[in-house]
Amino acid sequence: MADTAVIVGGTQGLGKELAERMAARGQSVFLSGRDQARADAVAAGIGKGARGLAIDLTKPHDIAASLAPVGTVKHLVIAAIERDSNTARDYSIDRAIKLATLKLVGYTEVIHALAGRLAPDASIVLFGGLAKERPYPGSTTVTTVNGAVSTMIRTLAVELAPVRVNAIHPGIIGDTPEWSGKPEALERAIARTPIRRLATMKDVAEATLFLLDNQAVNGVNLNIDGGWLLT
Ligand SMILES: NC(=O)c1ccc[n+]([C@@H]2O[C@H](COP(=O)([O-])OP(=O)(O)OC[C@H]3O[C@@H](n4cnc5c(N)ncnc54)[C@H](OP(=O)(O)O)[C@@H]3O)[C@@H](O)[C@H]2O)c1
Repeated sequence: MADTAVIVGGTQGLGKELAERMAARGQSVFLSGRDQARADAVAAGIGKGARGLAIDLTKPHDIAASLAPVGTVKHLVIAAIERDSNTARDYSIDRAIKLATLKLVGYTEVIHALAGRLAPDASIVLFGGLAKERPYPGSTTVTTVNGAVSTMIRTLAVELAPVRVNAIHPGIIGDTPEWSGKPEALERAIARTPIRRLATMKDVAEATLFLLDNQAVNGVNLNIDGGWLLT
């Protein structure tokens, strides 16, 4: 029977890229977005038996019920984000609570809800981001939650042993929907990147699969940025 992969935040961007690759390598894929019809449509587009789930990580009490269709899980990837711009001088409590709930409580509750269904050799990858290291005006909550992802995996790897838990921290991934139509920002980022190009969705997907598959990598925070953070 095919291994099951669950990708939370799999309807577009990096999560969708992974869903496509995991389905193509024969895994039984569940991918989620907030809306069931959209998730189903994306899953149908991928084919190969992929299925859609509706999960809203900002409503953590509802997450367990949303995951009811899922059986034993080999690979769990949580990539969901609802972006937030928030500064100390112009602070929205509601937006901060929403993002903190999504990335901290929501990510953890997905793992809690699936804990009894993780295969003994299961592995988990959580998505953080390099705003944890390189803040920008407005990134107060984003920087905070992505920094927290890098520490969450440490407790989770200890608590869930022998299940492995790692995090991936993308830099600016120029071919994601998030960055489409922002060529000037991308040019500035390329100029700072030692490999003279930005990391791509392909680069991030391959690195995520490495974290999922390698049997000894555990509790690792992996930056994928072409060396951008060095400059
Ligand atoms: N793109 C980059 O350059 C970059 C850089 C650094 C870090 N990252 C991190 O990488 C991950 C993926 O980023 P991305 O740019 O590929 O994301 P994206 O294209 O914005 O996609 C976000 C995904 O999250 C889902 N989502 C949105 N709100 C949600 C909610 N409340 N509950 C559950 N799911 C929700 C969306 O589904 P629906 O819209 O269908 O609901 C979608 O599948 C994120 O964690 C992000 O922080 C990305």
